[in-house]
Amino acid sequence: MNTRVLTVDSTQPDPAVVEDAAQALRAGQLVAFPTETVYGLGANALDPAAVARIFDAKGRPATDPLIVHIAHIGQLSMCASQVPPAARKLGLAFWAGPLTIILPKKPRIPDSVTAGLPSVALRVPSHRVARALMEMAGVPVAAPSANRFSRPSPTTAAHVLADLDGRIDVVLDGGSTDIGLESTIVDFTVDPPVMRRPGGLTLEQIRSVVPEVVALSQQGSAGLAQVAPGQLTRHYAPQAELTLYVGAAAAVVDRVAADTRTLAAKGERVGILAPEEDLLALAPELAPLAAAGRVEVQRYGSRTDPGRSARELFAALRALDATGVTYILATAIDSTGLGLAVLDRLTRAAEGRVRKA
Ligand code: TXA
Ligand code: MG
Repeated sequence: MNTRVLTVDSTQPDPAVVEDAAQALRAGQLVAFPTETVYGLGANALDPAAVARIFDAKGRPATDPLIVHIAHIGQLSMCASQVPPAARKLGLAFWAGPLTIILPKKPRIPDSVTAGLPSVALRVPSHRVARALMEMAGVPVAAPSANRFSRPSPTTAAHVLADLDGRIDVVLDGGSTDIGLESTIVDFTVDPPVMRRPGGLTLEQIRSVVPEVVALSQQGSAGLAQVAPGQLTRHYAPQAELTLYVGAAAAVVDRVAADTRTLAAKGERVGILAPEEDLLALAPELAPLAAAGRVEVQRYGSRTDPGRSARELFAALRALDATGVTYILATAIDSTGLGLAVLDRLTRAAEGRVRKA
């Protein structure tokens, strides 16, 4: 299959270009498009054959349900059979934006979209290209992140093509995404409502409108069984083995420097993924190893600006993978604000390899 790349202005999308993509969606084709979080891989959510092609193109297990994107909150009742007042309040406060709400589904939403669950995940994206596409398509759009299964989510059209060129019909290229990691998922089919995935909307923001929302981590180990489907499988995993270092900055930097020396001495090539402050502190130690080709370095934002860390994280992971390093040593940022979602993605990428320095 030949993947068509349609370039589109992210602030003033050309309606003719978006209509071209919308027509492709209505015809059952797969269209990747920018949202404010990451690029999505869209198909007509009401067309089971088109939805099946999403799982095929991504290599995604059928047990991992998709998010359905709608143009505005008025379309909620097209997809959800019940909307509790707190869910409507949250949607009114933060849509269009990086929020996904789980509600009981209407029968018209195919089982393949929800992996057989009686609930559906719904989101109104704020990106102008995404909104124009939903509006012109005139149908709800099922869209997971537009990456091959277990690769980091794409924040540029180039990332989408790196994973899916030849496997999908159209990519709308609207430049880099703004937030850089996925939406926050809040499940309103349980009481109290549960945040199932931290993301671009912070827990602090959510609780300012619906204070009773609980975070998954607060439910203790019993909460693990209730984790969002698909969230326990290998996610955001780079090809290299990633270890996450947490603790006070100075101790983390010392430990990473020591472990890098050890690995380099064994002949391994090591990637360092760290906020700019940590890279500065590591520079004297790493410069000779980098010059010798033993170490590759990627910045992801700054300890004082979790928004920048979120924006740069997935591109940095992809860049490190492309260098062919066998190990990645990553240093953590604080878990406040967007830092919580950043740490969630890093912890998944580490698959349990978290070291306290
Ligand atoms: O920002 C985002 O949310 C991006 C953009 C494209 O909108 N989309 C995205 O989709 O991250 P995806 O497929 O990579 O992640 C969706 C996750 C699933 O893995 C699953 O955990 C959860 O949403 N999910 C979907 N439907 C659900 C349901 N009915 N119940 C529980 N979790 C659900
Ligand atoms: Mg994904």
